[in-house]
Amino acid sequence: MTHDRRNFLKVFGLSVGIIATEVLSPAQQRAIAKPSTTARKILVAHRGASAYAPEHTLESYSLALKQNADYVEQDLQITRDSELICLHDLTLERTTNVKDIFPSRFREELVDDKTMRRWYVSDFTLREIKQLDAGSWFDVKFKGARVPTFQEAIDLVRGKAGLYPETKAPEVYGKRGFNMERLLLDALRKNRLDSSRAARHTPVIIQSFSPESLRKLSGALKTKLPLVLLVGEENPARWLTATGLAEAKGFTSGIAPAKALLDTNLVTQAHALGLSVTPYTFRSRNTGRFKTVNQEMSYYLYDLGVDALFTDNPDLFPRAPVD
Ligand code: G3P
Ligand code: CA
Repeated sequence: MTHDRRNFLKVFGLSVGIIATEVLSPAQQRAIAKPSTTARKILVAHRGASAYAPEHTLESYSLALKQNADYVEQDLQITRDSELICLHDLTLERTTNVKDIFPSRFREELVDDKTMRRWYVSDFTLREIKQLDAGSWFDVKFKGARVPTFQEAIDLVRGKAGLYPETKAPEVYGKRGFNMERLLLDALRKNRLDSSRAARHTPVIIQSFSPESLRKLSGALKTKLPLVLLVGEENPARWLTATGLAEAKGFTSGIAPAKALLDTNLVTQAHALGLSVTPYTFRSRNTGRFKTVNQEMSYYLYDLGVDALFTDNPDLFPRAPVD
């Protein structure tokens, strides 16, 4: 096990070297089955403090830092001139005024028999994207906020919290001739964030829904950084079984499932393999059966025993159990 991965497991309060419950003493098995309430829980600011400021803007990231995020998340996309930028969608129209600034630069697509107009990031240069307003859609008080580059996110966050970049739709970019994983590692290397030394002040965890992307990062590209596999509600059976978790263990340090997929048994199984568990996404505007998002996060952290979570509301992250 590499130094970086060992540090990562320590951060998440997991025991290094525990492979399966059958090699544990009964006391150790009981300890694993009972979720830890003492290990420090990790707060990942989802798209920044995105409940309060437009997602993936420097304004949202700054607020997340003020709200004591341990990590700030960046979803990555690639511009026509190969720059990594922070944006959730492959296209610009939901979170910017691209339709007003570049009204004719769309591609038409057929979606459910309807023709849709899409303004793809990869059809625009960084210079063009920097002309867009990425704040007004959220609230007029954020008018003029810009889409940040990954480098700008690094410059803002480094030394204050960790970075949690996601390779977003890497296969789509691959078909268009881009190598997202290489661009990401090059950026981290250039900033000296690919070593365990840097990790003390600015740890980096790479996440993806794409197992191929993570396999490429740890295999061909040989990164030693911790990797986390996102698991969506569409395909839980592929990864959230004893076999799936054991396979994931081959190329990740942890799993990050949609929160609805989690139960104590799954957390116990993942921990027994040394995998961290980081569910997504906790937000005050959607708390399901819980009265508040604070209570919901507390349940997942201290009752189910997850190690970390993604939230739009970093200020409401419970550092101790709440009733
Ligand atoms: O990366 C964790 C969570 O952000 C996954 O969902 O769609 O918000 O990127 P999404
Ligand atoms: Ca994400």
